[in-house]
Amino acid sequence: MATTETGAALGRQIVEDAKKYVLYSWSVQDAINPIAVERAEGRYFWDYDGNRYLDFASQLVNVSIGHSHPKVVQAIKDQAEQLATIGPPMATESRSRLGKLLAEITPGDLQMSFFTNGGAEANENAIKLARWYTGRHKIIARYRSYHGATGGAMTLTGDPRRWPAEPGLPGVVRMFDPYTYRCPAGHPDPCPVCTGGPHLEEILQYEGAHTVAAVILETVTGTNGIIVPPDGYLQSIRETCDKHGILLIADEVMAGFGRTGKWFAVDNWNVVPDILTVAKGINSGYVPLGAMVVRKPIADWMRDKYFAGGLTYSGHPLACASGVASIEAFQEEGIVEQAAATGEIFATELAKLAERHPSIGDVRGLGCFWGLELVKDRETREPLVPFNASGEAAKPMAAVMKRALDRGLYLMTHWNVVMCCPPLTITREELDEALAALDDALSVADEFVA
Ligand SMILES: Cc1ncc(COP(=O)(O)O)c(C=O)c1O
Repeated sequence: MATTETGAALGRQIVEDAKKYVLYSWSVQDAINPIAVERAEGRYFWDYDGNRYLDFASQLVNVSIGHSHPKVVQAIKDQAEQLATIGPPMATESRSRLGKLLAEITPGDLQMSFFTNGGAEANENAIKLARWYTGRHKIIARYRSYHGATGGAMTLTGDPRRWPAEPGLPGVVRMFDPYTYRCPAGHPDPCPVCTGGPHLEEILQYEGAHTVAAVILETVTGTNGIIVPPDGYLQSIRETCDKHGILLIADEVMAGFGRTGKWFAVDNWNVVPDILTVAKGINSGYVPLGAMVVRKPIADWMRDKYFAGGLTYSGHPLACASGVASIEAFQEEGIVEQAAATGEIFATELAKLAERHPSIGDVRGLGCFWGLELVKDRETREPLVPFNASGEAAKPMAAVMKRALDRGLYLMTHWNVVMCCPPLTITREELDEALAALDDALSVADEFVA
């Protein structure tokens, strides 16, 4: 561990070189100041000055098992020694085993997987397959969404990260979200948007259902505000899709693998999508990996056809071995059940924080997937920072993050939402430590309340 002067100097050098030679994602390059991370273990990571941070974001909501899990690390080492790499046309033990495991843990008849390097590629393949399978070209996606940074996935994405990439893929149509806190339809009860089906039906009327290949949605919206749909929403979208022969693609890149306290977020509503896209928590990002998992009828339909898709690293042995080890560790250690139990604690403790902090407008989430929506005024629900705020306008949220970081808590925020997404393996003691730091950081937000 580098707690010495040499370590600190090395840390400074790493940051200097990073700023000079590395292009950072979603950033104004001159504005970044990355933490030089020396090591990570469990729910913590350490910088070169010896400072310890509790990772309340699981990095990008992907390190679900926690850092440096010994079983996953060992599986990567073993695989590297036995067969570090091999092309997609071969069959390998870890790839076949991972495919089989996914068929077992995913709901219903989801059966066959195409392996990718991450979430965006999984979504690219999902929409390509949906178009091929249905012979239709339109895809319906939602506004408050992020589906990845490649061409097609960026077009599917509803949030402003899409703007610089426009015009994107033709045929992407958008629907509103079940965002009950700020309902786009102004909260009639029952709201036609937030109940799902009626809103989708109306869009289909104008688009022509026969032209629509698929609806893609994040089962529980991630970065765009941790939006949990009301009960019945997903079922009604499923029914509407079935009625019109439209495929349902559930993007569970963030919400999958126990994040919501169930293996997959769709399991909260007993809905089986036609295509499930996953990444992140599949192996906690120890090696880049994603997958598109399709239901049996689609798999059967494809068998005698030419699948026009591929990636040099599809089903990479190191990625698959880490995926297998991670799923097995989830099963052996009851990690999904632990996430569900932590969800109960989150519900209670975040409600208590909301009583103390007038800046908290809404608390929502499931499992280890929670968001605190911060406002200037609870009555008007005016957000603490404006939509898509950056720079000066985003300062109140930056100040909250900074206070948390000073207290050793690494937080992820998006616009006016604080995300509480620790590794699913977080202990009660660690959670209490995080909540105490969060409590303090929220007092910074309270100063901006009108
Ligand atoms: C819901 C969702 N889909 C897709 C992606 C893209 O995944 P990747 O960055 O692995 O391409 C993300 C990434 O954050 C995501 O949250």
